[in-house]
Amino acid sequence: MNEIRTPRLLLRSWHDDDLAPMADINADPRVMRWVDDGSVRDLDHTAEDIERWEEEWDEEGFGLFAVELLASGELIGFTGLSVPEFLPEVMPAVAISWRLGSPFWGQGYASEAAHATLEFALQDRGLDRVISISRVGDNASENVIRKLGMAPERETAHPVYGYPLRVHAIDLTEFQA
Ligand SMILES: CC(C)(COP(=O)(O)OP(=O)(O)OC[C@H]1O[C@@H](n2cnc3c(N)ncnc32)[C@H](O)[C@@H]1OP(=O)(O)O)[C@@H](O)C(=O)NCCC(=O)NCCS
Repeated sequence: MNEIRTPRLLLRSWHDDDLAPMADINADPRVMRWVDDGSVRDLDHTAEDIERWEEEWDEEGFGLFAVELLASGELIGFTGLSVPEFLPEVMPAVAISWRLGSPFWGQGYASEAAHATLEFALQDRGLDRVISISRVGDNASENVIRKLGMAPERETAHPVYGYPLRVHAIDLTEFQA
């Protein structure tokens, strides 16, 4: 797995001691408000998530990066890539996503990590297109999506939960490194 340095962040593989801080992030209702059914996750659920994310790296050659703050070494969340199998109508596709602990919002970290992730996807991994899938109303994610230069593509509904979703996309030719 690749490691990526940005001016303030290290995007890296998962370490054993990421479990506790990632579980704290997943236990925060403000963080989970727009994720799946909006429920928080406990330590066991977070451990299963991280295991699945690591498997995705092995299977696909991409996945979710642990995001560490260079200045302090703290884990602040993740950004990365996954195959959005839950939404068959957009397949085949690779989607970018993000989740940061609330103390780390509003400092440009999500955008910095997401931009580096797009560069990884489109330039290093050679994908020609990356999508994002966000819940209508998740304005913080929409703001990141807009700043990345991703264009709106379609509106649909979550196949399980039924709430409205927006799909955005960016092609290799449109991406500005
Ligand atoms: C979605 C999420 C990652 C967005 O994080 P964020 O911190 O709001 O996003 P950004 O990194 O773009 O930073 C936002 C603000 O930081 C500010 N900022 C402060 N210092 C900055 C700097 N040095 N550089 C850039 N921006 C900076 C900017 O004003 C920016 O806002 P603007 O674009 O309106 O000017 C975060 O809200 C989150 O983790 N939410 C919970 C999980 C979630 O909902 N995930 C998506 C659903 S699956």
